[in-house]
Amino acid sequence: MSVPIVRTVAELRANVADWRREGSRIAVIPTMGALHEGHLSLVRAALEKADRVIVTLFVNPKQFNNAGDLAAYPRTEEADAGKLAPLGAHLLYAPDVHEMYPNGFATTVTVSGVSDGLCGAFRRGHFDGVATVVAKLLLQTGADLAFFGEKDFQQLHIVRRMAKDLDIPIDIVPCPTVRELDGLALSSRNVRLSPREREVAPKLASALFNAAERIAGGVPVDEVLAGAWSAIIEAGYSRVEYLEMRADEDLAPMHELDRPARLLVAAWLGETRLIDNVKVLSRTSIDNAPGERTKLSVTDATI
Ligand code: PAJ
Repeated sequence: MSVPIVRTVAELRANVADWRREGSRIAVIPTMGALHEGHLSLVRAALEKADRVIVTLFVNPKQFNNAGDLAAYPRTEEADAGKLAPLGAHLLYAPDVHEMYPNGFATTVTVSGVSDGLCGAFRRGHFDGVATVVAKLLLQTGADLAFFGEKDFQQLHIVRRMAKDLDIPIDIVPCPTVRELDGLALSSRNVRLSPREREVAPKLASALFNAAERIAGGVPVDEVLAGAWSAIIEAGYSRVEYLEMRADEDLAPMHELDRPARLLVAAWLGETRLIDNVKVLSRTSIDNAPGERTKLSVTDATI
């Protein structure tokens, strides 16, 4: 058993039109494939809120900064379709590059403000590529709801801003980061880690959780971030691109814990670039939940 696959906008819209006639509520989950439990958690969340769930699979050339990274991106469509069927997803939309960007394609969606800094500063053009393809996917599917992971927290903010600014009538639903039991955030890029790098990798998440706890405990933010930066390098990461505290609500830079916050990081482990982020709980919420911060389990929602 597999999930039906469509490759053109016309076929996609024919399915959606049938579902609209039934009065169904439709959800979409944009992905680049190589599906793991993080993606599947979005599918499960969508199935709870919608009658019909479309997963999209498109490795979007416009969001890659270099040809090598694009070529190396894992492509496992058959296995992906096999994972979706048992969950009960209704359709896999997997267009090719010419369907998405036909000859003469000339439009770019740029979201300013929330795209500045963090990954936006280190991956030139990346978020233009993301915003352009996500705008197209939301409009092609005409879905009521779209599910995105908090794992890519800046991307989530960019998509939200873009849908609002372009009056795309869709609810953007955030979902918590799914982690390995040792804390490493699931990512399609984790398969590139050598066994030795895989041992080091979870130290990024532990440095973040530890820093979040210290900040919530009242230690000055700059001191905590400098310590966490060193801890990541000492653990075996080759380079930290950024490690910052930003406002949870709008990604504004923050230097004191005066409202809900996130710590966001990007770091290189050998040839692999990993990103992660954690919420900074206020002192009161930590006091209300003794011991919770030291327990790593399946999603951030349960940490
Ligand atoms: P991709 O990396 O395949 O991720 C697809 C969706 O899965 C994104 O919303 C991402 O945040 C979510 N996701 C990835 N890892 C996760 C994890 N460990 N826990 C929870 N959710 C996770 O992000 C993209 O693709 C692309 O940029 C895309 C939005 C599809 C545009 O091309």
